[in-house]
Amino acid sequence: MSNTILVGSQWGDEGKGKIIDVLTGGVDIVVRSQGGNNAGHTIVDGDKKYVLHLIPSGILRKGKVCVIGNGVVIDPVALVGEIKGLRARGIKVDAKNLLISDCAHLVMPYHRSIDERREELKGKNKIGTTKRGIGPAYGDKVARTGLRMADLIRPEVFKQKLALRIRENNAVLKALGGKPVSGAKVLADYVAAAKLLKPFVINTATYLHKAMAAKKEILFEGAQGTFLDIDHGTYPFVTSSNTTSGGACTGSGIAPNRIDRVIGVVKAYTTRVGEGPLPTEEDVIGDMLHGMGREFGATTGRARRCGWFDAVATRYATMVNGVDDLAITNLDGLDGVKKILICTGYRIDGKGPVLDTPPTDAGELARCRPIYTSMPGWMTPTDTIRKYKDLPLKARQYAEKLAKLSGARLSIVSTGPGREQTIHL
Ligand code: GDP
Ligand code: IMO
Ligand code: MG
Repeated sequence: MSNTILVGSQWGDEGKGKIIDVLTGGVDIVVRSQGGNNAGHTIVDGDKKYVLHLIPSGILRKGKVCVIGNGVVIDPVALVGEIKGLRARGIKVDAKNLLISDCAHLVMPYHRSIDERREELKGKNKIGTTKRGIGPAYGDKVARTGLRMADLIRPEVFKQKLALRIRENNAVLKALGGKPVSGAKVLADYVAAAKLLKPFVINTATYLHKAMAAKKEILFEGAQGTFLDIDHGTYPFVTSSNTTSGGACTGSGIAPNRIDRVIGVVKAYTTRVGEGPLPTEEDVIGDMLHGMGREFGATTGRARRCGWFDAVATRYATMVNGVDDLAITNLDGLDGVKKILICTGYRIDGKGPVLDTPPTDAGELARCRPIYTSMPGWMTPTDTIRKYKDLPLKARQYAEKLAKLSGARLSIVSTGPGREQTIHL
């Protein structure tokens, strides 16, 4: 039996979905423990592409159980849409392979409207959220004014609690200059979603503990990335959950001493979608990748900002997550780059002492200028290579350098979106 947490060690979209799908082959259960449908995890199976938002990336594999844990915030209407979308493509989703925590909080339509209005009011200081209502939903959870799956599946309780929430949130929306939401419509839509979701809802913490007692192997699928963590990220340009490994424990009810391994996923370069500091951002890399049709957001379709690999950031990510093993994805994205840069330190405004950890203040991080080391590119396609020893020497040297600088063991190198384009070391 072993339990593994997989996290993003950068700013999200590291390729977590792909690696989870690959690793699911060897486990019994895949758990999402934080975030909501702000996530977009892409899996490519042959000529079929799937983008999952709330359902764990294990769902495509037969005989695996997927769990949406207590730490996730669920938009029930969006979840029903995702379930129906998968079923329409022939993927089995029922109460045998998908379980939902009764303690998971609900994302409500007023959360989405408040998210949108707050972003509009912030103007040029906006966060660049996915507008899925994530921040306001977690806000209600922490303020103890949230509604949960346990409420949703009890129509009378839900109706009663909802009335008060609608009144309060419509007042907030009015103050923010937004449109009020119709309580009757929310009730009808959510009660309809509840009908479909009810059979899936259980105490998932108890389920997972029983599964562990029965020697089942569990994989925890992180959403977002380390620098979007509400505590450890580039606040306020972050999401509203703990995206770091500790979030997998609180968001599922599994204690830290039951975790055996943490895998950090990184791209061979850096991307970020939304606002906030990104020290190694370089338009030339963005232009190159966008020109190849890559690096457009899986949830919102926005072009991702791109830059060189930032080892200052990934070293910090290894520290706060306890990363043991590193999975490097998108190595093939650099196949045509002659000279590759790696950031090994920062200087504020390009002056003064060299920093080897990122400043916690977003304003200070925005002033950081990277110090680069360079490596020659391998200038050969890697997407058809299946064995580590067959990768060009320079590609191996690059991957090994990233792992060394990040302070973790190199375990997986991915050279394409497909399952088979994965090299295990
Ligand atoms: P996630 O949010 O971390 O699951 O990542 P996303 O799915 O949002 O973005 C990662 C993108 O990279 C997706 O389009 C994947 O299909 C793609 N991808 C993952 N690994 C590789 C790789 O090694 N090479 C290439 N070319 N694409 C990859
Ligand atoms: P996956 O799991 C990349 C970003 C948004 C925005 C900030 C806050 O696919 O890696 P939110 O809607 O959460 O309030 O937005 O976080 N963001 C992501 N960026 N990947 C994600 O998920 C993200 N989820 C949220 O772009 O900058
Ligand atoms: Mg994504």
